[in-house]
Amino acid sequence: MIDFGLAGTVVAVTGGGSGIGRSIAEFAGAHGVRVAVIDRDESAAKSVAADLPDARAYTLDVRDPEETDAVFTAVERELGPLHGAVTCAGVSLPGVADRLSHERWSTVLDVNLTGTFLSLQAAGRRMLPRGAGALVAVGSVDSFGGHGERANYAASKAGIAGVVRSMAIDWGPRGVRVNAIAPGAVDTPLLRRNIPADVIRDTMVARTPLGRLSTGADQAAAALFLLSDAAAYVTGVLLPVDGGTTAGYFTHIAPAGDGPAPDDGAARSPGLPAGR
Ligand SMILES: NC(=O)c1ccc[n+]([C@@H]2O[C@H](COP(=O)([O-])OP(=O)(O)OC[C@H]3O[C@@H](n4cnc5c(N)ncnc54)[C@H](O)[C@@H]3O)[C@@H](O)[C@H]2O)c1
Repeated sequence: MIDFGLAGTVVAVTGGGSGIGRSIAEFAGAHGVRVAVIDRDESAAKSVAADLPDARAYTLDVRDPEETDAVFTAVERELGPLHGAVTCAGVSLPGVADRLSHERWSTVLDVNLTGTFLSLQAAGRRMLPRGAGALVAVGSVDSFGGHGERANYAASKAGIAGVVRSMAIDWGPRGVRVNAIAPGAVDTPLLRRNIPADVIRDTMVARTPLGRLSTGADQAAAALFLLSDAAAYVTGVLLPVDGGTTAGYFTHIAPAGDGPAPDDGAARSPGLPAGR
């Protein structure tokens, strides 16, 4: 097991009741972290916390600033001073742009962008007087590019990039680092709810150089790295944890074996016939 040096620290995880947040809560708990499992879904948060050695569950809708402040106060009172927070609460409500309702637009922006900002702000406000702490937001590969039928979701994730970079500038001089993981396709209930299985296989996995969906543990390891002192000089960064999805375009265009043999001296890009 990798030693992230985080045993005994307190870390809050929003959206900790399911998917990526749940994996991060479990992974952190297995590394000796005292975890505040925060979720709108009370029973999900409780069931995750109950399985961890040293955790508590908190119910919160991350869109509510007063509730958010109250929950972070309770976390510090009950678990101790926060070392870190990871903001995983998020939703996806697809719709092609000309038919995307105002309600779907607002809900996704409110939860994913405003909710992320409010949780980072609440955690940061408690860390700044102590001059130490690390925050990790959850962006997406959609923080770097568009996504069909998800203008609301892609806007929220691009917005998270702006929040993370700006907070890093504001708070770096005061000892608090702010970064994000940018997951590709992670095998979670959110993904399975929103994307048909054949699209996951034929589009998402096919365009991922590492050839598989991400597990929650892939994301958790990256988040714990950013929370740890191994990342002491890293702030304002969105770390793609995407199996190489954003490394480039045009994967697997040519059938295997197309073009001259690789030992004929002709310079060629992998997957493209010579001369292209
Ligand atoms: N699954 C993927 O492929 C993927 C890829 C990139 C980014 N992400 C991002 O990761 C994050 C987690 O996604 P997931 O796939 O684990 O989804 P999920 O649906 O499995 O989990 C999301 C959790 O957030 C909670 N939540 C939703 N709205 C909330 C609110 N208003 N207040 C508090 N909690 C709320 C839900 O109850 C749920 O427990 C999201 O921000 C998502 O955009 C997911």
